[in-house]
Amino acid sequence: MRIDVLTLFPEMFPNVLGTSILERARERKAVEYHLVNFREYSDDKHRTVDDYPYGGGAGMVLKPQPIYDAVADITNKVAAERRRVILLCPQGEPYTQKKAEELAKEEHLILICGHYEGFDERIRHLATDEISIGDYVLTGGELAAMVIIDSVVRLLPGVLGNEASHVEESFSTGLLEHPHYTRPADFRGMKVPEVLLSGNHKKIEEWRKKEALKRTFLRRPDLLKDYPLTDEEKKWIGE
Ligand code: ADE
Repeated sequence: MRIDVLTLFPEMFPNVLGTSILERARERKAVEYHLVNFREYSDDKHRTVDDYPYGGGAGMVLKPQPIYDAVADITNKVAAERRRVILLCPQGEPYTQKKAEELAKEEHLILICGHYEGFDERIRHLATDEISIGDYVLTGGELAAMVIIDSVVRLLPGVLGNEASHVEESFSTGLLEHPHYTRPADFRGMKVPEVLLSGNHKKIEEWRKKEALKRTFLRRPDLLKDYPLTDEEKKWIGE
């Protein structure tokens, strides 16, 4: 996968993209990152990227020209059959694990980070997707772009050592994950549940499923709306 990030602040990215799994993914050639400062595409001599809003009001608005020209330059250079152009903004579709799985199937992502008070509405016409990472307002789309990159790149084939490790994790199963424990079996009086020490794999699976359901019921009952419960499972959570 190739990922291009259009941003006025490319210096925010190298630490994140150059650390741990995101860096390893690049080394393994599962992903290529390209940071593009769209100010370089501005066609005026002061390299301006924003302007006053028509109709008045506070704040500046990102103008369309630099972003249109940056995207055109990239799409002319990079041949890709499966490409998404994603605009990060609070008005976008709420981001989910399901969306991450969908994006992980693409060949090329172009992420556009907005800044200032907003962007010219015509920039939306460039986007195949508009994504929000939550109901709060960030100073710009950069942190949201990093969230998308992190959650997508870890799903690319060969990136996580253990391929099974994202099949059973929170959200992929539709439930929150069950609790995990490692040694010691007794840490300052807090004991690991007996069943996990039993070696009985069937019992352990059952316990994990039960705990995942209980945790989801208590913390995120909204997730159970889309989860078909068996009669047995309904009993576990007292429904
Ligand atoms: N830009 C500013 N706030 C944002 C949010 N919540 N999600 C995505 N992009 C944003």
